[in-house]
Amino acid sequence: MRLRLLLLLICIGWGCQTPTEKKTYTIGFSQCTGGDEWRRVMLNDMKRELALYPHFQLLYKDAANSTATQLIQIKELVRQDIDLLIISPNETSSVLTAAIDEVFQKGIPVVLLDRKITSDSYNSFIGADNLEIGRMVGEAVPTLLKNGGKVVEIWGLASSSPAQERHKGLMEGIAKAPKIQISSQLYGQWEQDTARKVALANLDILREADLVFAHNDVMALSVQRVCQESGISPLPLFVGIDGLPGPKSGLQKIMDGTLTATFLYPTGGEEAIEVAAQILAGKAAKREYLLNSIRIDRSNIKAIKAQSDKLLHQQQDIEKLNQRIGQLNDTYASQKNALYVIITCLVLAVLLGIWALYLVRAKQLSNKKLELQNRQINEQKDKIEEVSNKARQATEEKLRFYSYISHEFRTPLSLILTPVEDLLIQKAISQKDLKSGLLYIQKNAHRLLRLVDQMLDLRKTDAGKQLLLASEQDIVQFLRDIVTDFQQKAHKSKIDLQFITSTPRLPLWFDAEKLDKVLFNLLSNAFKYTPKGGFIHVVLQETAKNVQIIIKDNGEGMSETEKERAFDLYFSGQKKYSLGTGLGLALSREFVHLHHGEIEVTSTKNEGTTFAISLPKGDAHLMPDEKALLDKTERPTPTFLEETEVVAPTPTAEVSGEPTTVVLIEDNIDLSHYIVDKLAKIVSIKSFTTAERGWEGILSMIPDLIICDVMLPGMDGFELTQRVKEDFRTSHIPVLLLTAKSQIDAKIEGSKAGADVYLTKPFNTTHLTETIKTMLNNRAKIQRRFSSEYVFAKENKTEKRFLNELTARIEAHIADTEFGVEKLSTDMGMSRVQLYRKVHALLQMNVNDYITEIRINKAKALLRDTNKSIADVAYETGFNSAAYFTTLFRQKQHQTPSEFRKGVGV
Ligand code: FRU
Repeated sequence: MRLRLLLLLICIGWGCQTPTEKKTYTIGFSQCTGGDEWRRVMLNDMKRELALYPHFQLLYKDAANSTATQLIQIKELVRQDIDLLIISPNETSSVLTAAIDEVFQKGIPVVLLDRKITSDSYNSFIGADNLEIGRMVGEAVPTLLKNGGKVVEIWGLASSSPAQERHKGLMEGIAKAPKIQISSQLYGQWEQDTARKVALANLDILREADLVFAHNDVMALSVQRVCQESGISPLPLFVGIDGLPGPKSGLQKIMDGTLTATFLYPTGGEEAIEVAAQILAGKAAKREYLLNSIRIDRSNIKAIKAQSDKLLHQQQDIEKLNQRIGQLNDTYASQKNALYVIITCLVLAVLLGIWALYLVRAKQLSNKKLELQNRQINEQKDKIEEVSNKARQATEEKLRFYSYISHEFRTPLSLILTPVEDLLIQKAISQKDLKSGLLYIQKNAHRLLRLVDQMLDLRKTDAGKQLLLASEQDIVQFLRDIVTDFQQKAHKSKIDLQFITSTPRLPLWFDAEKLDKVLFNLLSNAFKYTPKGGFIHVVLQETAKNVQIIIKDNGEGMSETEKERAFDLYFSGQKKYSLGTGLGLALSREFVHLHHGEIEVTSTKNEGTTFAISLPKGDAHLMPDEKALLDKTERPTPTFLEETEVVAPTPTAEVSGEPTTVVLIEDNIDLSHYIVDKLAKIVSIKSFTTAERGWEGILSMIPDLIICDVMLPGMDGFELTQRVKEDFRTSHIPVLLLTAKSQIDAKIEGSKAGADVYLTKPFNTTHLTETIKTMLNNRAKIQRRFSSEYVFAKENKTEKRFLNELTARIEAHIADTEFGVEKLSTDMGMSRVQLYRKVHALLQMNVNDYITEIRINKAKALLRDTNKSIADVAYETGFNSAAYFTTLFRQKQHQTPSEFRKGVGV
């Protein structure tokens, strides 16, 4: 990743370079001298031109008129690795020529400017034609000296090519003018000072001269000054070369008449750079670039001056522009650099951004992947949990089912065993008792048989071995028979049982044995949950394809969950199984399905339940092996309904004074009758089939003992026990839980709820009666203790609370003579009877006696602790008169109040 980033940065760096950018060149410029104006103009011209070539670098050397210095400087420039040499050689000397030859030989292009050498070792020469200028001067002189005259020639450096060529031209120019004589040649070396010295040294010559021609304006003006200073008069005419602009230069001196004529000698600075550029660009360059020259005198000076000024002005403008361009270039360069930096930063930022995005994306992807994995794991976990929950639920339901089965077996078994034991221990058995016992045994043996049958049926169904044996029979008659079988039961239970149909006869293919079991189950179920006064209707309806049998009741109804799972084998509501809802319904559904029919349940809690069986008409739906070979027109005899009702004997217990009352709650009618039968001899017993009704009975009776089954429809035995023990009105009543449940956890649950005794079925009748006697005796002991003390510290908490509250309420109204049972029971939130029963159960005295006892106790305290009169004490303790108080006090204490006071020494 890092390597990739580095490569990218290199590419960016590369990309930032301007592709059109030229190679930079170094041009060496060796100047023979930089000390005069003409050379300065030349250098400026070059620089101005160089502004157009920003890739050219100029290395400038000034030899100050010294050939030796120029030789050294040439070498220096070569060492500085110049790409081209522009040179204005000091002189044509062989050493300088050789040095330039050497440079040229090295392959460095050479441009000669203004002055020449003696070899051909150069690429181009740029300069004015000095020979021609000399000639022009020679031709001009006769026009200036019309009558002829003497001319003094002031030479430049004699060894330099311009001086030599100017002289030669001059000679050629004046050759045709015989009256013109070169009177003298003086050597000014191109320099103002040398010219002055030479002039001062030759004043005589100058006095004779008519015209002084100097090889440049600088020397001409220097000699003119000397002549003027020396008082030479008339002054000779002065002619020079260069024609430079500027206040002290040639053009101005023509204007003011100091010089008579001058000849324009262009510097060639601009041209030299142009030619150098050409050569460096590899383009062909001419060998010689000869610059034009003109004569300048009074006749054209104004125009030329104007032009020159204009040019000068333009040059200044150009220079300003160049400066501005330079500044702009600098700005541009710095901005360009800044831009590069910004672009680089931007690119870097973008790259980092892309990288960050890439990382974020990668992270997101990996997160998504992880999330997906997580989800999958969670889903798997949920599935596993679901499966294990289902397995657990199934196991729990199976366990409950087995517990139910054992319960179902235990009840009839106990109803067989108990009468058998009873019969066995009796020495002389009456005919009536024997018959009653045997009837119990027979009935419950049938019940066991039915259970075993159902189990076997289910087993067969589970194994897929249950076969339909259908034959065509009249379903109307079939149903009518079944309903008739239940009529007796309905009559007893005061239930409106009806068979409703508009069809007198309806042939249908069905397996009578199986459908009989289905209907028996459904009707038993309806009876079980329909209270007295309710109804059970069996309705037969017909549609085009089906026959519908509806069993509708207005009984307890089912909760949503109970309804949903009504047909599950291992589910029977929240707690309880019963034949109708557990085994029976599961089996019923299987049998209906065998008929290729459907069974549905609709039910609303506390409103009732409706089962609807739909059976297909005709026999098209039946396989050949599902049809019975022989028609079974007769319904099987319902063995389980041949109940010779066991009549519950009326309690025979003699109630003397306060009879001991017992409430029995048992949903199994037979067992209930049996227990009532056995206990009626010793107690007054009232039985109920549900805990709800039992509770109402308990509240109205406040019995001395409660016997309750645990597994009951609706509220169960544990809930009832808890309710009894938590209620003030009933908390004192001992509870005996009687059930088939034998598991230890159920016992613990029972104890937690507050049950006093737990007895499992099948039970021994003697054991039951003995247990009940013990429980009642224990209650009597507690009563004695409660009645002998008024501090109830160690007793049952609820009872203690009750008695303390009772005492407190009496004490609060102790002065109120009207305060009695009525007011006290209202205060305690109980009925008079409940209060009476409760107080009697706990203290074995009636409520009024207890109130009097509290009043007397208070009176005793007042007699003992105060000096109040007997009458006052009587009034303060709620007695109407002192006499009545005294009578009662003597009854209870066996002494009068006064005697009591004396006795305690007040
Ligand atoms: C300047 C100069 C000019 C003259 C030229 C000849 O140094 O002396 O005045 O025209 O050189 O090379």
